[in-house]
Amino acid sequence: MPSADEIRGVQRATWAGLSAGWEKWDSVIMDQLGPVSAAIIERLDIASDHQYLDIAAGTGEPGLSIARLSPNGRVVLTDLVAEMLDVAARRARAQGVANIETKVCSADDLPFNDATFDGVSVRFGYMFFPDTGKATAEFARVLKPGGRLCSSVWVKPEENPWTTIAMHAIASETVVVAPPDPDGPNMFRCAAPGYVSALYESAGLRDVAEWDVDVELVTQSPAQYWEMISEHVSLAVAALQQVDSPARERIRANAIAKVSAFEKDGKVRVPGVARCIVGTKASRISPRC
Ligand SMILES: C[S@@+](CC[C@H](N)C(=O)[O-])C[C@H]1O[C@@H](n2cnc3c(N)ncnc32)[C@H](O)[C@@H]1O
Repeated sequence: MPSADEIRGVQRATWAGLSAGWEKWDSVIMDQLGPVSAAIIERLDIASDHQYLDIAAGTGEPGLSIARLSPNGRVVLTDLVAEMLDVAARRARAQGVANIETKVCSADDLPFNDATFDGVSVRFGYMFFPDTGKATAEFARVLKPGGRLCSSVWVKPEENPWTTIAMHAIASETVVVAPPDPDGPNMFRCAAPGYVSALYESAGLRDVAEWDVDVELVTQSPAQYWEMISEHVSLAVAALQQVDSPARERIRANAIAKVSAFEKDGKVRVPGVARCIVGTKASRISPRC
């Protein structure tokens, strides 16, 4: 079992290497994941002048969208990896979003005082934290009483062909993709219904609810689907680095053949399902005199 430091080290190296792919495919990724941002934002009930924290913000979502809705407020975008936040800062400048700051830190050790933020968002970060319980306790600590935490994770692989098509193509050629340790960082680590809700409840959050959100990955062609997945999905990038070029070509052909079944109206539209989870920090109860 790797230590928390080892997990953070692997995550740091992995996401630093993926940051260029995320920047290149930014608009496709943002379109795919937009419904999840919208769901998180709706439940956080953004006010125009509040303080928000986006955890594992990566290239900037949903933090930048929240900042646009809170022009007199402020959003702190945090992530373990400076290279991902550098992309977020470039996106913020390009979009004219100035009420943000970025901070490199790990989700399970936040450099903020207790009760600092009105809302905390975590879009697709939970699966990668060394200790999901410790991280949730940190989110609850930095929330103000009455503030909300809203996060998203992926549901089971069968409901996410947008990624499993590529993974099956890779698995057909190589055994280098080790079966993920169910307790270690991997895309589907938090897929079990109630997994994240239980973390929220253990951290003392109230009114915990979870619900599923449909997404769709849209690319211009099957070939573009493969190019995009092979340049920004961590497991695919890692596995492809370990096979020779004929095997890479067979994997590509296999994935392209499978994803062609999802061609519709001149585009490729592959579905997926995420789960969102919301909870509220209890308001302070005034002491009786
Ligand atoms: C799938 S990306 C999500 C990025 C963004 N929130 C989005 O939805 O587009 C996962 C992010 O988690 C970050 N991450 C991994 N381990 C982390 C940790 N211990 N603390 C904070 N962020 C972490 C990675 O650097 C990466 O940017």
